[in-house]
Amino acid sequence: MMRIVSVVGARPQFIKVAPIANAMPQGIDHLILHTGQHYDEEMSQIIFDELKIPRPIDNLKVGSGSHATQMSALLVSLENSFLKLAPDWILAYGDTNTTIAAALTAAKMNIRVAHLEAGLRSFNRKMPEEINRVVTDHLSDLLLAPSLTAMANLSKEGLQSKAVLVGDVMVDSIRSAEAILGSKVQKESGVPYLAATLHRAENTDDPERLTKLIGALASSPVPVRLVAHPRLVAKTREFDIPLSQGSILVEKPLSYLSMVELMLESVGVITDSGGLQKEAFLLKVPCVTLRTETEWVETLEGGWNTLDPDGDILSTRWWAHERGSADRTVYGDGRASERAIQAILVA
Ligand code: UD1
Repeated sequence: MMRIVSVVGARPQFIKVAPIANAMPQGIDHLILHTGQHYDEEMSQIIFDELKIPRPIDNLKVGSGSHATQMSALLVSLENSFLKLAPDWILAYGDTNTTIAAALTAAKMNIRVAHLEAGLRSFNRKMPEEINRVVTDHLSDLLLAPSLTAMANLSKEGLQSKAVLVGDVMVDSIRSAEAILGSKVQKESGVPYLAATLHRAENTDDPERLTKLIGALASSPVPVRLVAHPRLVAKTREFDIPLSQGSILVEKPLSYLSMVELMLESVGVITDSGGLQKEAFLLKVPCVTLRTETEWVETLEGGWNTLDPDGDILSTRWWAHERGSADRTVYGDGRASERAIQAILVA
């Protein structure tokens, strides 16, 4: 029986493995291996429980640390696991340190690697995720691309022969979430608010930049419900920057469904996350992205997503402007997981 091992470790990967596990046909031995990059209950277990993700075969408990510390722990532990599990395929997700470590370990062991969410590029090598994406794509045997833009990026790097357009598995997830939430969502009731997240190293790790961005969120004319990633909380403590300022209401990390609901009921989303920008776009909620560029360029169409690296427009009623039309089918039809699995089976 073919054995596929999905290697996951960080929150966005749990959200992506859920529809894959769900779509896995009988006769495939699909195992989930958790690296333990994210370990807080609210960053990991809550998502597994809510999305009914099968229990991982193991948790490698690599934890946090500098890139070198985390990467070396990942490489050693993954090699041990792959030796024991003897997979036919490794499935790596997205762009975290868990992703690149899984691809590198497997490639060195001559185990075939498929990369889900291949071909995304910000063209900003200062982002750790960009290094992870480029290297993972070049190491992989099969590149499962979410969009035509991703396919074009892979082509430009000479990788087209390994690439398959399958669509984005996050569309699969968000469509199921919308179906579950259904009529529960009441956008018009209550006080209008913005839903916000901030966690990228480029934004959190420089005290001046972080002070500026928190100040911009605080200046909002309506409340900003800031769902605080542990990295943000750790960095504000380290730099002694107060998080509860002005319009900011600090909240703990939420489960996937609660986050989708928070976005659906908001008047707008402010984020530096890749996933959230795209989810806002799919849910037709206007978004401001606190970055200079985006990998998900299609979200910019019709003004649904605005790049504002310093948060300059956050003191205005930016969400109230009319938005243009945008093609929301660019990321697929909600059946990307089936196609991704099929692509592995025929590769
Ligand atoms: C990682 C990914 C990023 C992804 C994000 C999703 C890398 C390089 N980055 O960033 O691409 O968008 O996950 O959330 O892989 N921490 C905790 N508890 C946890 C996990 C982290 O307290 O369960 C804190 C620690 O202070 C840790 C810091 O967050 O040092 C950073 O964690 P790390 O896994 O290095 O990266 P993320 O910022 O989560």
